Amino acid sequence: MKHKILVSGGTGYIGSHTIIELLRSGLFEPIAVDSCIRSTPETLDRIEKVTGIRVKHYKIDICDKKSFFDIFKKEEDIAGVIHFAAFKCVPESVAQPLMYYRNNLGSLENVLDACGKFGVRNLIFSSSASVYGDVKDLPVTENTPLGVPFCPYAHTKQIGEQMIHFCAEQNPELQSVILRYFNPVGNDMSGLIGELSPDKPNNLMPIVTQVAIGKLPKLTVFGTDYDTRDGSCIRDYIHVCDIADAHVKALQFLLDGKNASNCETFNLGSGKGVSVIEMIDAFEKVNGIKLNCVFGERRPGDVPAIYSDSQRANQLLGWRCQHDINDMVESAWKWEKQLNGEQRN
Ligand code: UD1
Repeated sequence: MKHKILVSGGTGYIGSHTIIELLRSGLFEPIAVDSCIRSTPETLDRIEKVTGIRVKHYKIDICDKKSFFDIFKKEEDIAGVIHFAAFKCVPESVAQPLMYYRNNLGSLENVLDACGKFGVRNLIFSSSASVYGDVKDLPVTENTPLGVPFCPYAHTKQIGEQMIHFCAEQNPELQSVILRYFNPVGNDMSGLIGELSPDKPNNLMPIVTQVAIGKLPKLTVFGTDYDTRDGSCIRDYIHVCDIADAHVKALQFLLDGKNASNCETFNLGSGKGVSVIEMIDAFEKVNGIKLNCVFGERRPGDVPAIYSDSQRANQLLGWRCQHDINDMVESAWKWEKQLNGEQRN
């Protein structure tokens, strides 16, 4: 029998890609829970186009405890929760901190409460490399001490991790995995599903593709005087399908009882640092496009370089990145073109 998995934030960017990987594995029956305030239910049509399977969806806000608990009463045999649903925009979190604490921590409180009350034994939590703050010693391992949070968003991830640790101590039945993502980019290689960015995206890859398609006039490289090989910032970009695959492997790891403690943490990065200029070069070369690109000032709050040591996930989860930077830029562009075509029709 397939394991029923509740995926909060299931119509979001990483949530939808993870649902696809859960379906592709043939071992799981994912159920999406998403209020769709930052995503769209049309994502379910896209998942169906890619996999041929219609996923059940509850359109509710996870902060609404009664509606959320009703799902567990109705579905009964939920084997695990993958909790993605959260706000994730750094500048917005600085402007509206309480909205971030309320939403990101209120939803997690309900998830942990539901796991306890309804006997759900497996939990995967979306965390972020932003919990490390400004790290000097690279690469970053899971033992690297957490830094001072540079924004409320990062702080909610630090507090969220602590909440899970304390609940795991109190409830030994609950097995959890915390996954710290580095920079997820790209989309399913089919080009049929992908990230739906706001009109004014903040992250590099959506800005690159929107400049390429002509929605944005130009791309500014934020800082070219960093102490890095070409002066621009270095990040650890990881293909979203590799992130999704790691969730499937993390669930399997818990279901097989391979975890040594009941709360395990893993970095999810490719382990390679790539500069902003290298990323732009790769996009131009792979897709045969010249971007309108200018060199500008540093962006406040950016760390010069951060990349992951992902050996722990490699060894314990049996997980390896299958996609390189060329796949990331190719799939990002394929999706932007698909989306643009749909919006024009
Ligand atoms: C950001 C968040 C991080 C979050 C992650 C999600 C900050 C400080 N950090 O990471 O908490 O988990 O997104 O993916 O916001 N860049 C340009 N020009 C642009 C946009 C970006 O040069 O127009 C550069 C940035 O300076 C940075 C790199 O591209 O060096 C990546 O930026 P971005 O995609 O925003 O990710 P992070 O800042 O690394």
